[in-house]
Amino acid sequence: MRGEVCIGCASVLSFVSLLLLIFMHVGQINTSNVPRNVEMIQVNMTGYAQGLAAAINPDPVTGLFTDNASAPLEQGLGLRNVYKFGLYSHCAYVNETAGLCSNTSAANRFEPFSVITADMAANFTALSNALVTNTTFTDSSYLGNFSNGAYYLLLIGTICAALALITGILKHTFGFLVSTLFAIVGSLMLLIGATIWTVIIKKSQSVNDLFLGPAEAPVPLGIEVTIGDALYLAWGAFGCLIASIIPYMISCCTYRG
Ligand SMILES: *[C@@H]1O[C@H](CO)[C@@H](O)[C@H](O)[C@H]1NC(C)=O
Ligand SMILES: *[C@@H]1O[C@H](CO)[C@@H](O)[C@H](O)[C@H]1NC(C)=O
Ligand SMILES: *[C@@H]1O[C@H](CO)[C@@H](O)[C@H](O)[C@H]1NC(C)=O
Ligand SMILES: *[C@@H]1O[C@H](CO)[C@@H](O)[C@H](O)[C@H]1NC(C)=O
Ligand SMILES: *[C@@H]1O[C@H](CO)[C@@H](O)[C@H](O)[C@H]1NC(C)=O
Ligand SMILES: *[C@@H]1O[C@H](CO)[C@@H](O)[C@H](O)[C@H]1NC(C)=O
Repeated sequence: MRGEVCIGCASVLSFVSLLLLIFMHVGQINTSNVPRNVEMIQVNMTGYAQGLAAAINPDPVTGLFTDNASAPLEQGLGLRNVYKFGLYSHCAYVNETAGLCSNTSAANRFEPFSVITADMAANFTALSNALVTNTTFTDSSYLGNFSNGAYYLLLIGTICAALALITGILKHTFGFLVSTLFAIVGSLMLLIGATIWTVIIKKSQSVNDLFLGPAEAPVPLGIEVTIGDALYLAWGAFGCLIASIIPYMISCCTYRG
């Protein structure tokens, strides 16, 4: 009886881990209800007009944003208020609900500054490139490379979680051994993948502290980077998968099916 409880525990933990990872993967692939609310990282550009205005004072900032939610992305048609980035694509929102997503691709590179400036009119893109410097947020090759590598680790972690769950259901001593190994490898991959994302998000957040305008009256740049729920899902999935190792191991050592 205790063996059954142990197996059940391990299966539930690896199942929950897999479920969290699936939610992480679907984040921002389209703008329907669930994917829209799950992102690795959110960039709020709402305050950027004020920041720019301080920098080019007394010239006004006009035509920076668009409120047309269906205007194609990355064609200089205007900035959206909020950008959310997932593992496969990013979406840009004019308000809470209305937005448009980029094409999806596996191993999508996280290059926030490139895709955001590509939405601005050419004059604002040039201005932004000149004003926003010396911060990791604008370092697209660094962010792109690390997010790309982290994607593969999270993908392998997801596959391992699924395989641990499936082999654990077989109820065989050898199956539990394989499950234990998949749970170990999977948690290691998730740990490294989630750590990389945590680091690149934390480094991107340095842009939150930038100021523009004259030194005696600085104005916040107005770009606000926040951690998305998908990162917490990745950490939660890691926690569940690593917690499943012990019951899988006990099942493997004690099961006499
Ligand atoms: C973006 O920032 C603006 C002003 O700073 C705030 O009013 C708005 O709620 C923020 N949007 C999101 C989705 O956080
Ligand atoms: C930039 O271009 C937009 C539209 O092309 C125009 O409305 C705006 O005034 C320009 N702003 C500056 C600062 O040149
Ligand atoms: C919004 O953009 C779409 C696509 O470019 C265009 O077809 C539509 O006419 C635009 N709507 C408005 C109100 O400008
Ligand atoms: C968001 O914008 C869309 C299109 O511009 C509009 O239809 C919708 O009512 C807006 N939603 C909110 C909550 O403002
Ligand atoms: C997205 O995909 C469509 C159709 O495959 C293509 O025409 C378009 O250029 C792509 N957009 C971007 C930004 O790559
Ligand atoms: C960039 O930032 C570093 C440390 O934050 C500083 O030492 C360096 O002088 C800055 N470079 C420029 C060009 O502002």
